[in-house]
Amino acid sequence: MAQAEHPGPVVDAPVAPGRLPVLGHALQLWRQPIAFLESLRDHGGIVRLDIGTWPVHVLTDPDHVHAVLVQQAQRFGRGRVFDRLRPMFGNGIVTTDGDFHRKQRRMMQPAFHRGHITEYAEVMGRQARAMTSTWVSGREVSMVNETRTYALSSVAEMIFSGDLSRPAVEEVHRSLPIVLEGMLLRAVMPKSLDRLPVPHNRRFDAAAARLRAIIDQVIAQYGTAEEGRHDLLSLLLSSVDAETGATMSPEQVRDEVIAIMFAGTETSATTLAWIFHELGRHPEVQRRLQEEVDEVVGEGPVQATDLSRLTYANRVFQEALRLHSPLLFTRRALVPLTLGGISIPAGAELAYSPYALHRDPALFRDPAVFDPDRWREDAADRPTDHRYVPFGAGQHKCIGDTFAVAEILTALATVASRWELTPAPGVTVREVPAGIPQPSELPMIPIARR
Ligand code: HEM
Repeated sequence: MAQAEHPGPVVDAPVAPGRLPVLGHALQLWRQPIAFLESLRDHGGIVRLDIGTWPVHVLTDPDHVHAVLVQQAQRFGRGRVFDRLRPMFGNGIVTTDGDFHRKQRRMMQPAFHRGHITEYAEVMGRQARAMTSTWVSGREVSMVNETRTYALSSVAEMIFSGDLSRPAVEEVHRSLPIVLEGMLLRAVMPKSLDRLPVPHNRRFDAAAARLRAIIDQVIAQYGTAEEGRHDLLSLLLSSVDAETGATMSPEQVRDEVIAIMFAGTETSATTLAWIFHELGRHPEVQRRLQEEVDEVVGEGPVQATDLSRLTYANRVFQEALRLHSPLLFTRRALVPLTLGGISIPAGAELAYSPYALHRDPALFRDPAVFDPDRWREDAADRPTDHRYVPFGAGQHKCIGDTFAVAEILTALATVASRWELTPAPGVTVREVPAGIPQPSELPMIPIARR
């Protein structure tokens, strides 16, 4: 890791090799985004790449990432990827900045407090049992589908509870996957393409409109309903900012709900899918996990109080998340500055890749090896500092990290207590580029343990 302050002369960032006129590095990014992002570390702690004519300074050194996300965070805005998400998210916390973002985050934070997570864990347990209830011993299931349905249901039930919202939950299941897929494309494509009347855009616009309309409808119903609820939507609608006394408008609540659904479904689903994949590939890890779950949970349903005692399951989760982390987030320099001896002009775009950091051999021993024991309390090189940032850091750090841990551990323990997972024969699982690179497919065969 480099020192954040640099004694030498200030220079421009080195440009990644292979830049073409007009296209810049767009072809490399298009063809092999993951390998290309990982290769950048060989060229410096800050490396410039051009997506067409759009220059991005990629931070490959964790000290620089820490400086931008935490130490000097007030000098940076959200950046282009987030700008492109704004038409869908409006002013949710995912896309906003500064005082407005701080106020919104303060108002939303209580919904993610540990006390509520315990309530949500009950719902997660039910959803996890629903997922496995359709499994038949020896019959193949698609873990990509299973984990997506589980994550969507967990988040939807956290946001809207009760029968009143049943149509909203169904609509989320129908529309959100279309919106998620479209958003990813929009984040990297030129804005001018959004309005082209092609089927892809029409499908996206229709799904986004349906999603917004149904959420608006539920918000209107919640406003008039008498009964007390404990879901996130009720919390947001009744939330009052302790510092300013402000409340949220129904539109603002809608934007936040969409932001959470977007940020909290594919991420958890993909992480859980990779965990199942790693268990299938590492029978000895699966055996140790089962032993722990048998001891802590026994045969009964997983309780929220079990989760902190599942130390090995926690290590499995941390290690899977290290290997399968989010690919790229952007920031924008609000003022001219120097970072590690590199000059960054005002308005310049920066990016960090948790994925590439977590696979850097200078930061992690045998980075390609799946080894949950590197997270043991007594492991000499346990990565506890800011080289491990699967949830980001600083003011935009994932607000749902505790929710995600509970959600994933609940599913993991529920599955491990009853099922042994084996990979379907003859299938090669590849990584497909996405917010978190996803398994191309993940057929697995669950075998009943009891
Ligand atoms: C394993 C699962 C997850 C991973 C790896 C993950 C990762 C991240 C990362 C890296 C960021 C920061 C992005 C940046 O630096 O710009 C973030 C932000 C965020 N995440 Fe997560 N996330 C996960 C699950 C969730 C869940 C379950 C929720 C909600 C229920 C959620 C809601 C959010 C929100 C709202 C933000 C924006 C926070 C802000 O800008 O203030 N995430 N997430």
